[in-house]
Amino acid sequence: MADFIFYAPTEVAFGRSSEQKIGAMAKKYGAHKVLLHYGGGSAVRSGLIDVVKQQLDQQGIAHVELGGVKPNPRLQLVREGIELAREQGVDMVLAVGGGSVIDSSKAIGYGVANPEIGNVWDLFTGKAQAKACLPVGVVLTIPAAGSEMSSSCVISDDESGLKLGYQSNYSRPKFAILNPERTFTLPAWQTACGGTDIMMHTMERYFTNTPMMLTDAFAEGLLRTVLKVTPMVLKDPHNYDLRAELMWAGSMAHNDVTGERTLGDWSTHKMEHELSALYGVSHGAGLATLWPYIANYQLHHGKVERLLKFATEVTTVKQGSDDDVLTASKGIEAMVDFYHTIGMPTSIPELIGRKATDEEIAEMADRCTKNGTKTVGGYLPLDREVVAQIYHQANGDDPLTAHYAK
Ligand code: NZQ
Ligand code: ZN
Repeated sequence: MADFIFYAPTEVAFGRSSEQKIGAMAKKYGAHKVLLHYGGGSAVRSGLIDVVKQQLDQQGIAHVELGGVKPNPRLQLVREGIELAREQGVDMVLAVGGGSVIDSSKAIGYGVANPEIGNVWDLFTGKAQAKACLPVGVVLTIPAAGSEMSSSCVISDDESGLKLGYQSNYSRPKFAILNPERTFTLPAWQTACGGTDIMMHTMERYFTNTPMMLTDAFAEGLLRTVLKVTPMVLKDPHNYDLRAELMWAGSMAHNDVTGERTLGDWSTHKMEHELSALYGVSHGAGLATLWPYIANYQLHHGKVERLLKFATEVTTVKQGSDDDVLTASKGIEAMVDFYHTIGMPTSIPELIGRKATDEEIAEMADRCTKNGTKTVGGYLPLDREVVAQIYHQANGDDPLTAHYAK
């Protein structure tokens, strides 16, 4: 068992009445002037932005607005946000939206709080370290990324084509408002991408070389719940209780309750970030596209035990007379069936509507492994050649794994 630090400082208000607390929470965490940051319009259309403004007005908290965050949030808007926040003397960023809005808010918070860095992108490229972040508050509208309680921030730069993450506890949101009713308007696709991402945050932690019985039990319970609830939500999108299950799972999957982040694998996430950087696809869909092939590689390279436990404790596969590898492989198949049931792609052609070219795969493998100088994944390190092989399998180039595609 490994040593670890557990730190989950975000105050969460959960439920129908939670929005009544937005103003009071912002005040509690020191806001005098807030940057109200949101996405492409869903929060405006639903009336949520008006509710947030009323809440701030009631507490006498001034606010400036910056909308327009795109999925896979862009560095360009982060830079605009930093400038605006500085000019206006903003002392808190309030994210109203999902992972993209929250991450854009965190990046703005880093930029404002670390003026000596000059170029906020330096944090993401590893050239600088943050010493602080403006306080970030969250009003969540989609359970998926878990950024409302996480230390992560993922930003895309159109100029270089890179999508990079930066981690530090400074950016963990001070508070998060979670009202499941706000997720009723989510399109089925976003709900399914969210369920996939939620599971993957816990699966990346579950596939570890330092497991604990208690953490496994938390993780397996969460994974079974999301596996069961996601298709139910898709059939009954206005069911409050089901939406609530997903929303709470989203936060718990990525706040380290189901395993400390650095002890996990993260190969699926690292390889997915290259897909969403290159093709602009939804993060959750990219994860479903890759995981079966990564898991299959792990299984056939000595990593049987955890995949066997995953199969029998998370999916409905039973340990019968089959050998362990076959039983574990049935767990992977069960996940493929799950992805198909909820409308997720399980191959690159399904994800992007065509095959990736050899050049694109080479580029993704290079970027993911920093031109072959780094491996990917803490559970079973994958070198550049293996990463490229897995992209090719997901591309339908290997008859041995072709059955994972629809
Ligand atoms: O922009 P609007 O109009 O709001 O539409 C959004 C967006 O198009 C829509 N949406 C959100 N709430 C809605 C809604 N539509 C209707 N009703 C609602 N209530 O959903 C779309 C996707 O939103 P986005 O914020 O992009 O989704 P998600 O939460 O999945 O975030 C994805 C981003 O988070 C990163 C991903 O890489 C990606 O960039 N991640 C961040 C992590 C973190 N910071 O801890 C961890 C994750 O692994 C992930 O990498
Ligand atoms: Zn994710």
